[in-house]
Amino acid sequence: MNLIFLGPPGAGKGTLAGLVGREYGIPQISTGDLFRESVRGGTELGRKVKQIMDRGDLVPDDLTVALVKERLALPDAHQGFILDGFPRTIPQADALGKIARIDAVANFQVDDETVIRRLSGRRICRKCGAIYHVENIPPQVEGVCDRCGGELYTRSDDQIDAIRKRLQVYKQQTEPLIRYYRKKGLLRDIDASADPEHTLQQIRAALRPSGEQAG
Ligand code: AP5
Repeated sequence: MNLIFLGPPGAGKGTLAGLVGREYGIPQISTGDLFRESVRGGTELGRKVKQIMDRGDLVPDDLTVALVKERLALPDAHQGFILDGFPRTIPQADALGKIARIDAVANFQVDDETVIRRLSGRRICRKCGAIYHVENIPPQVEGVCDRCGGELYTRSDDQIDAIRKRLQVYKQQTEPLIRYYRKKGLLRDIDASADPEHTLQQIRAALRPSGEQAG
């Protein structure tokens, strides 16, 4: 199954892509994670994108599409994938249409206030990338990952100014993709405001072939 998780920052795309990816046995491909890896690694790409990401703007389409094309060519993506945070513009979606077939697009719906609350309290494991929230999904020991014992950190773009900018960029540049994929009959609306288990149930139902009953 080739899936896209579309939605505003903080909607829970990464959290749910981890859960759905494990359940369906397909990789989660997050362009945000790939860019952050390049920044950490000090690569040429990392140097180009760091400031753009910190202020909450989008990385140029040509760089982003090239990165995704390279990632989708790896063998683990041949059995299916979840694109988390890509595409984010119409030109990216057009380019993706030439690279891969898409089966469904989960459209995460959540209001701005929830986004701000979620991103202000987000913590991420430096070692394994597990995602926590200080109130909603807290680790057992403050600042320490339950899964691997790694240190938890706050992303540099999870500051209020960058969060507001990312929301604005989402509305201007990414929201038009809702109509784009609805017209193609691929869009599945998901209420992402409840807890992750409830969101997961909705995604399972949305991906079930029509006519198949819940088990
Ligand atoms: P990216 O890393 O993709 O960030 P984003 O889209 O802003 O999304 P987030 O990772 O912030 O949120 P999420 O929806 O994954 O939420 P999460 O699951 O973590 O992109 C970062 C930057 O990279 C961009 O700004 C841009 O510069 C660049 N970039 C990336 N892709 C690009 C592209 N295609 N083109 C151009 N530039 C690109 O959850 C958030 C918090 O809420 C967590 O604390 C979590 O624990 C909590 N939470 C999650 N779900 C729930 C729930 N159901 N109930 C309660 N709490 C929840």
